[in-house]
Amino acid sequence: MSGFDYIPAPSHGSAWVTGASGGIGRALTLKLAQAGWVVYATARSEDKLQELAAEHDNIRVAAGDVTDAERMRAIVAEITSQGPLALSVLNAGVYYPMRAQEYEAETAAKTFDVNLTGVSNCVDPVLKALFEQDAGCIALVASVAGYRGLPRSAAYSATKAALIAMAESLAFDLAPRGIRITVINPGFVETEATSVNDFKMPFLMQTDEAAEAIVKGLNRPGFEIAFPGVFVGILKTLGFLRPRSYFWLVRKMIGWDKVEK
Ligand SMILES: NC(=O)c1ccc[n+]([C@@H]2O[C@H](COP(=O)([O-])OP(=O)(O)OC[C@H]3O[C@@H](n4cnc5c(N)ncnc54)[C@H](OP(=O)(O)O)[C@@H]3O)[C@@H](O)[C@H]2O)c1
Repeated sequence: MSGFDYIPAPSHGSAWVTGASGGIGRALTLKLAQAGWVVYATARSEDKLQELAAEHDNIRVAAGDVTDAERMRAIVAEITSQGPLALSVLNAGVYYPMRAQEYEAETAAKTFDVNLTGVSNCVDPVLKALFEQDAGCIALVASVAGYRGLPRSAAYSATKAALIAMAESLAFDLAPRGIRITVINPGFVETEATSVNDFKMPFLMQTDEAAEAIVKGLNRPGFEIAFPGVFVGILKTLGFLRPRSYFWLVRKMIGWDKVEK
């Protein structure tokens, strides 16, 4: 069995979703609970997690900040004390768009702390549990913004590119053990995070559709789960361009070629 085609069944253990209080994570938690998973839901806003748990008996509140490594270890310990941790979706993330003129190290650091260190804080105890169990699935939520540096996304794209590289690197050790690792690269999804965007987001999806695409992807073999297909195809094609052509074309696509911006 290759590590890219293994998806445990809900009867084989619990699921853990970070960033479950809103957006994609909330929709995914509900969908997994409806599919029979016992889902541990993590985010900082305990009140929102309690509201979510009230929507389905299978949802357990495990509030915490992903930048708190000790708390992430404690959550995984709590889950594994009840049985195997079969599926972890490390989804918590922040998005603070900024142009070069507005670049601030503090804002970038907040992005690195949650999107990278936060994921790493979860990866550590999850991997230990998966090696112990010799089974299970870990999914890192990156983004199509990790394929190449996108406008306004110096810090955000950097974290998502890093997560894709992290998942690829881990796959070398996990796949041969039958432990599945997958990277989830969504396009634009309408959430609180993207509500700050002041442009028309192409191929915008709703959180339910995104959650559906993730569940479908987890049920299919493969390393990457990316959606929506056409947008992913366009961005992957842009990925093949030389930097000069890439900058020229993207500036044109977003209208930055018309006005000197
Ligand atoms: N929306 C999109 O278009 C899009 C596209 C590609 C990738 N993504 C990725 O998908 C993931 C979810 O995005 P979203 O759009 O659903 O965002 P969202 O609606 O803003 O939700 C983000 C979630 O992360 C949690 N979170 C933030 N900081 C946290 C922290 N320090 N510790 C624990 N939880 C934290 C938030 O809960 P609390 O505030 O309660 O902690 C919330 O539950 C992110 O990784 C994002 O980068 C989104």
